[in-house]
Amino acid sequence: MLIFIVAIYIILSFKCETEAKKGGYFPKDIPYGFGSSAYQFEGAWNEDGRGPSIWDTFTHKIPSPIKNNDSADVACDFYHRYKEDIKLAADLGAKLYRFSISWSRVLPSGYAYNLNEKGIQYYKNLVTEILKYNMSPVATLYHWDLPQGLYDNGIDWTNPDIIPHFVNYSRIVIQNLPKVQFWLTINEPKQICHWGYGVGYMPPNVKSDGVLEYKCTYVVLKAHAAVYRMYKSEFPHYEGKMSLTLDCNWMEPLTKNFEDVDAASRRQQFECGLYYHPIVRGDWPYIVKYRIYLRSKNANLPESRLPEFSLREIADIRGTYDFLGVNHYLTYLVKDEKEAPFTNISYANDVRIDSSYDIEGNKQDKEVSMLVPFGIKNVLNWITKEYGNIPILITEIGTSDNGTMFNDVHRIDFVTDYLCTVLEAINDGVNVTGITFWSLTDNFEWIVGYSQCYGFYQIDFKNPFLPRMPRRSVSFIKNYLQTGMLKCNESRIMWPNRIKLPTLEEINLYG
Ligand code: NOJ
Repeated sequence: MLIFIVAIYIILSFKCETEAKKGGYFPKDIPYGFGSSAYQFEGAWNEDGRGPSIWDTFTHKIPSPIKNNDSADVACDFYHRYKEDIKLAADLGAKLYRFSISWSRVLPSGYAYNLNEKGIQYYKNLVTEILKYNMSPVATLYHWDLPQGLYDNGIDWTNPDIIPHFVNYSRIVIQNLPKVQFWLTINEPKQICHWGYGVGYMPPNVKSDGVLEYKCTYVVLKAHAAVYRMYKSEFPHYEGKMSLTLDCNWMEPLTKNFEDVDAASRRQQFECGLYYHPIVRGDWPYIVKYRIYLRSKNANLPESRLPEFSLREIADIRGTYDFLGVNHYLTYLVKDEKEAPFTNISYANDVRIDSSYDIEGNKQDKEVSMLVPFGIKNVLNWITKEYGNIPILITEIGTSDNGTMFNDVHRIDFVTDYLCTVLEAINDGVNVTGITFWSLTDNFEWIVGYSQCYGFYQIDFKNPFLPRMPRRSVSFIKNYLQTGMLKCNESRIMWPNRIKLPTLEEINLYG
C-alpha cells in the first residue's frame, strides 16, 4: 500500500512539475475581475442631476465624430443595470470589480460647492453591491470625462488650477466610499495628454503635438501626486491602496542592431517611463529629458518643451504609489529613425523611431500594432527591472472583435496566451497582485463607438433591451476563475491587431 501511495505521489508531482513548466497552474492568491468605466458603460448621461462632460459634448457634435454616429447616452445602461452586471461578474468567480466615477455625476459643473447627492449615492450603492458578493472594488477617479463646466472656464489638464479641483472632487468621493480597496487616480494619462492635447484625436481635441501635451503630462502627474498626498494625510485609517494606471505597450526592437535596441528602449521610456519614473523616482527619465531639451535648444526655443520639476515637486511626486497599475494590449516593432529637422516639433520626432513594420518585417505606410503574448511578460519584467519589485495590478488586458462573433475562440486564445506569459513573468519574480479583464460586456469604445467589442458578454446595442448574451469565452473564463487552471498553448502566436483606428481625416473632429 505504502509503495502504491509513494508511486502515485511521484507520478502526481512529476505531472505537476511538467504542467507548471508549461505554465498550467496559477498562484491561488491572485484575484481576478473585470474592468469598466463610467462613460463607456453607465449611459443615463443627463439623469438624476448629472452634468455634461467633454465626452458628451464631443459625441453630440453634428456631424458626429464617432463611428456610425454612435453615442454613449445609453451605452450599456449600467447606471440602471449595475446589479445585473455585478451579479454576472460574481457568478463567473470574479474577486475584483473595476469601475470609474463620473466627476460630473457627483459634481455636475465640476466644482465642489455643488454636490449632486443622487450621483454620490449611486456610487455608494454600486460599492455596496460589489461588496455583497465579496468582491473588492477597484475605483478609478478619472477615466477621461472632464466636466464640461470646468473646461468652459479654462480649467483643464494643461492648467495647474485643475489640481485643487481634482483634489476636492477626489476627497468627496473617497470620503463617501471608505470601503474601496484599490484607488486609481487617473486612467491612461498618455491617452489624455497625447491624444487629447498632442494629436487632438480625443476631447478636448487640442492639437499641440510635442508642446501642450507635455504640459498636460506635468499637470496630470502633479494632480495625481496631490490626490495621493491628500489621501494619505486625511484618510490614514483607510485601508485602500492607491496608484495611477498606464497603458504600457511593449517595444520590441526590429533588429538586434544597437540603434534599434536603443530606439525601442527610448520609446519604452517615452511611453511608460514618462509616468512611472516620476512617481517612483521623482523626475522624468533621463533620455526623455535629454531628447526634448536637445531638440528644443536646437530649435532656438528659450526653454525645454518639457516642463522642469522643481526640487519641491520632485519630493511631492516621488513615492506616490502603493502599487503600479498596468493596462497592456499591444506590441510594436521599433526601428531607429534619423533625426528630423529641429523645427519640426512633435512627440514622434522627440522619440525618433519608426514603428511601421508588420509581423513579417515589411514596411507599411503607417504605424503597425500587434497582439503579442510575450509583450506583457516583457512589460512586467521591464517594470520590475526599472523600478524594483513593486506590486503590480494589471488593470486591463483584453481583445476585441466586431461584435458579431459568439464563437470567440480568438478571445480564448488571447486570454490563454497572455495569462500564460503573465505566469512566466510571475515565475521570473514579478509581483503581480491582481488582474482585471477588459471587459465583462461590450461597451462604448470611444471614437469607434460600438464597432469594436471587448466583452465576454455580447450586447446588441440596437436592441432596446440591451440583452447580455454569453460568448463562448464566458464558460472558458468561468472555468479558469473557478479552478485557477489553464492549459497553455504549445506555441503562442503573434497576431496583427484587428483594430484599425480611423485616420484624423476620417473622423470629423472639427465639424
Ligand atoms: C484602455 C481604456 O482604458 C479603455 O477605456 C478602453 O476601452 C480600452 N483600453 C480598450 O481600448
